[in-house]
Amino acid sequence: MLLEHRVAVVTGAASGIGREIAQVFAGEGARIAAFDRSREAGDDLLAALESAGDRDPLFVHGDVRVAADVERAMETVVATAGRIDILVNCAGVREIGDVYTMPTEEWENVIAINLSGTFYCCQSAARRMRETGGGSIVNMASVAGLIGLSHRPAYSAAKHGIVGLTKSLARDLAAAGIRVNALCPGVIRTPLTEQYFADDGFEQELMVSVPLQRAGASSDVAQAALYLASDMASYVTGVALPVDGGWLAEKSFVSGLGPSSFSASHETTDTE
Ligand SMILES: NC(=O)c1ccc[n+]([C@@H]2O[C@H](COP(=O)([O-])OP(=O)(O)OC[C@H]3O[C@@H](n4cnc5c(N)ncnc54)[C@H](O)[C@@H]3O)[C@@H](O)[C@H]2O)c1
Repeated sequence: MLLEHRVAVVTGAASGIGREIAQVFAGEGARIAAFDRSREAGDDLLAALESAGDRDPLFVHGDVRVAADVERAMETVVATAGRIDILVNCAGVREIGDVYTMPTEEWENVIAINLSGTFYCCQSAARRMRETGGGSIVNMASVAGLIGLSHRPAYSAAKHGIVGLTKSLARDLAAAGIRVNALCPGVIRTPLTEQYFADDGFEQELMVSVPLQRAGASSDVAQAALYLASDMASYVTGVALPVDGGWLAEKSFVSGLGPSSFSASHETTDTE
């Protein structure tokens, strides 16, 4: 097993990608400390981990926007499990909105949860990891951390911020044996994106825009997180890895409706 004897804190673990990561990591032998603001869904995860026979999972209720909650959660994990080896920052929300009318509170909230919350968790966990000889941090950015997604100014800014934070911390924490990496998922089917799939044209659009021609599953992201969190990635730090079915590799006319000369069956400009 890849994570035997490791203690893994997963924020946003009560739903979607974070929940899948908690379950995959537990299956690889990690002791899971789930941190989420949803108590009911957190209890449900705990019951699922326990019934799968996983090793003494913990659930800590709290809000990543509140630095004192984060500090209390990390303290609880160390008091109960003795150490923190892995931190996966998955707690996140997104907005869809018009930049001209977006309320400032919405901007502040999206930045507070996605970016400040990620920083508070990295800082608080890194202090403990340094004391026990190192660790691995995986921050959940997004393709919106590498390109600007329209109608999502705060989300795109926060996710770009997470990529920058990841690279900065990778340098600063390396001496303490702490690796810091980011994942940049494309469209992953979870409660966060479920409403997109209600639109008949959405999956058709994915077929055109995503070379692997499908939405991602939480398990696609969880396997990438497992790689980065485990010793398989022992020489990898400071990367922002897309898990997007090739979406970002496609720089063409996204809708596939570009001028036909753009996709001629055969052509070269080298006439010499
Ligand atoms: N689903 C996608 O397509 C996709 C793509 C790229 C990136 N991501 C990122 O992956 C992460 C997980 O997304 P998901 O799709 O699983 O979403 P989700 O809505 O299913 O899960 C998010 C979890 O975060 C928790 N959370 C939200 N705010 C919190 C707070 N203030 N404190 C503590 N917990 C909080 C929620 O309770 C929930 O359990 C997010 O950071 C998201 O931005 C998702």
